[in-house]
Amino acid sequence: MKKLLVTGSSGLIGSEVVRSFASEGWQVHGIDNNLRADWFGPDGDTRWNQKRLLAENPNFRHHELDVRDRSAVLATVAELRPDLVVHAAAQPSHDLAASRPLDDFDVNAVGTLNLLEAVRRHAPEAALVHMSTNKVYGDRPNSIPLRELETRWDYDDPTYADGISEAMSIDQSKHSLFGASKVAADILVQEYGRYFGIHTCCLRCGCLTGPNHSGVEQHGFLSYLIKCHLEGRTYRVYGYKGKQVRDHLHAVDVARFIQEFWKNPRCGEV
Ligand SMILES: NC(=O)c1ccc[n+]([C@@H]2O[C@H](COP(=O)([O-])OP(=O)(O)OC[C@H]3O[C@@H](n4cnc5c(N)ncnc54)[C@H](O)[C@@H]3O)[C@@H](O)[C@H]2O)c1
Repeated sequence: MKKLLVTGSSGLIGSEVVRSFASEGWQVHGIDNNLRADWFGPDGDTRWNQKRLLAENPNFRHHELDVRDRSAVLATVAELRPDLVVHAAAQPSHDLAASRPLDDFDVNAVGTLNLLEAVRRHAPEAALVHMSTNKVYGDRPNSIPLRELETRWDYDDPTYADGISEAMSIDQSKHSLFGASKVAADILVQEYGRYFGIHTCCLRCGCLTGPNHSGVEQHGFLSYLIKCHLEGRTYRVYGYKGKQVRDHLHAVDVARFIQEFWKNPRCGEV
């Protein structure tokens, strides 16, 4: 039986990846310590999702671990020796990073290094997929001219009709501290692929969504928008005349991509 290790398994992406691989007969191990509740308060609490995963997937096991705990991460990977690792545990918000820079860097950058090193030492044949972000490009994408449409904004340049290429520079732009800690993680993941020959991949996602988000104002806006509507809370609109600027990708499609990468893994891919 193939083994998958997912960090951030109670979150939006982690939980969808758990479901996707568990339903295909994999033995799935999740690492999560509900740090999202510490970042964002009760609305960010992901325990409900952890309980749901345990109830619905008999081949899923939860590990109450912090990815910052280097010796625990090393020991867990040494014990499990997974075939595939999906790294989705993170501090995911710009605003929060500015108020807690040390926690942000320790989780996003050092936590990623802990996991990479554990894989190199104890499961070097495994493939590792890292949830990176388009914020590695900093504010550079904001320099692309926009065109106002009836309900949304779109790029006013055919070069970007299919989105922003991975060839865009990540240098010489303003990232926020969150973007900077994610750049560190992204480069480390690439380097473990290129330097050590491990099968790694960075997914530089934009906005992601799905029913498993514990949405809060600072992160997971579609989930938060619905929550505000159902509970009669005020939803604040920021900029762009309230029209949508970015595309959303469903968590199911992220999990589908990871299934495809597993079938045909490459080293240091972005
Ligand atoms: N949601 C988006 O729109 C989006 C967009 C681009 C990139 N991403 C990236 O995808 C990844 C997953 O995002 P998400 O939306 O699923 O986030 P999420 O907050 O829903 O899930 C992350 C999970 O990780 C856990 N976690 C956080 N720190 C931890 C730690 N130190 N140890 C163990 N567990 C910890 C949290 O408790 C949470 O359950 C992140 O790396 C994020 O930056 C997300």
